[in-house]
Amino acid sequence: MPSVCATARCEPFRVRFTSVLHACALMLIAVWASAPLRAAAAASAAAGPLAQPKSLRQVGVPAAATHAAIPTDDAQTPEKIALGQRLFFDARLSADGTVACSTCHDPARAFTDGKAVSTGIGGRVGQRNSPTILNALYNATQFWDGRVTTLEQQAALPIINSIEMGQPNLAAAVVRIAAIPEYQQGFRSAFGSTPDGRNLVRAISAYERTQVAFDSPFDHYIAGERNAIDPAARRGWELFNSSARCNKCHALSDQQRDTTNFTDNDFHNVGVMIVRHDVITLARQSRQLLASGDTAAIDRAAIQTDLSALGRFLVTKKESHIAAFKTPNLRNLLLTAPYFHDGSQATLWDVIDHYNKGAGLKNPYLDEDIVPLALTERDIDDLVAFLASLTSPPYKEAAAVELARQRELAKTTRPQRDTARAFGPKPLRPKPPAAS
Ligand code: HEC
Ligand code: HEC
Repeated sequence: MPSVCATARCEPFRVRFTSVLHACALMLIAVWASAPLRAAAAASAAAGPLAQPKSLRQVGVPAAATHAAIPTDDAQTPEKIALGQRLFFDARLSADGTVACSTCHDPARAFTDGKAVSTGIGGRVGQRNSPTILNALYNATQFWDGRVTTLEQQAALPIINSIEMGQPNLAAAVVRIAAIPEYQQGFRSAFGSTPDGRNLVRAISAYERTQVAFDSPFDHYIAGERNAIDPAARRGWELFNSSARCNKCHALSDQQRDTTNFTDNDFHNVGVMIVRHDVITLARQSRQLLASGDTAAIDRAAIQTDLSALGRFLVTKKESHIAAFKTPNLRNLLLTAPYFHDGSQATLWDVIDHYNKGAGLKNPYLDEDIVPLALTERDIDDLVAFLASLTSPPYKEAAAVELARQRELAKTTRPQRDTARAFGPKPLRPKPPAAS
């Protein structure tokens, strides 16, 4: 198979790549900021093999959950999906024509951006790490703090966030799109109407719902092919569900293993960088700022301010939710580094070192399930082997390269490793400060 791809499939792709380079050179000579040419480059990214709607015939696709993820009043049609795909890759949706959804959700990186935190228009840097949109159709809530539930509600927010795509409101984005003949045509064939905000986010969501990623070696293992994953990964999977305690959150319940999305759909404080912030003061400030409970206000706080560190608290105002974040899916992690809501960990070894030491001295809100784990180096390697087995076929080669890179880095750099704490007693959790 790989050799077939190298000749027959990749050759036309290389030709297309050269012509894109050619277009870029012309663009430099002619008009640097010409929107139509940039749109052409974006359109070619939209046509790349990794951007295409995925087949549902993958081992591990949860049939019922996939069906349930499609709104009953908004069927997936080829026209809607094609329109959404074009919009997802089109920088003309942003205020200055430079940022598309795909800028931060690049299919080549499993729809993430490879940065600790994302950069939007004018190079403005946000507070949070870009999550993948692969399998986002199954998310019970969207965003690291779950501030909205549907993909449609989600899609509207980056468009109007002033440091992401920067439009003053959704209507402004619609005006821009409605002036383009190909979109007039696209909305007509998808919805039988002229462009509007409601259908704009519906089309984008329809495209996102085609991005299902399963068929990993682990899915084949669960389907009964015992040798689809190696002994290290098999041991890692057992550790995941026992002494490493990962299943406490990355599973549906204590008893029920989740081999689909690896999440309890809940929010936890796992001690990520909380010590850096004075969360009590932040919580007080946020109570005033967010009294309205308006989602766009929460979005601004989460993306643009230090209040971001408060996580789920921004949405619920419950003290126990201070610095709690959504348990994320664990598929295709080798394409989505760096890790955690703030991109604070560079490798999977760092993530596991973090859990191993029961991270969270001086953290009164730390989840009860975060305790010293006493994992050995071999245990950690096996857990990484298991996580690596969650890679879907389109990313196989890139993941192997990244795994080798992380392994090399982890040989010399383990900033989170703290063996004394990992093998020590559970530290006392400080009491939350008295409420004022
Ligand atoms: C400037 C970078 C940037 C742009 C542009 C952007 N996103 Fe995101 N996206 C992010 C970040 C960062 C988050 C997480 C923010 C948070 O949790 O507060 C996110 C979250 C999401 C999520 C939630 C996934 C999950 O697991 O919770 C989806 C879905 C998504 N984006 C889709 C889109 C779509 C659709 C567009 C275009 C309309 C878009 N994004 C534009 C950076 C970006
Ligand atoms: C108490 C619940 C809990 C436990 C136990 C737990 N996790 Fe997590 N996991 C989370 C939450 C919540 C996040 C997001 C935290 C954040 O970003 O602040 C997360 C994030 C991650 C990430 C980063 C994913 C990404 O996209 O950035 C990885 C990898 C991960 N966990 C693996 C593990 C492994 C392996 C174990 C067992 C050693 C484990 N988790 C145990 C709840 C948990």
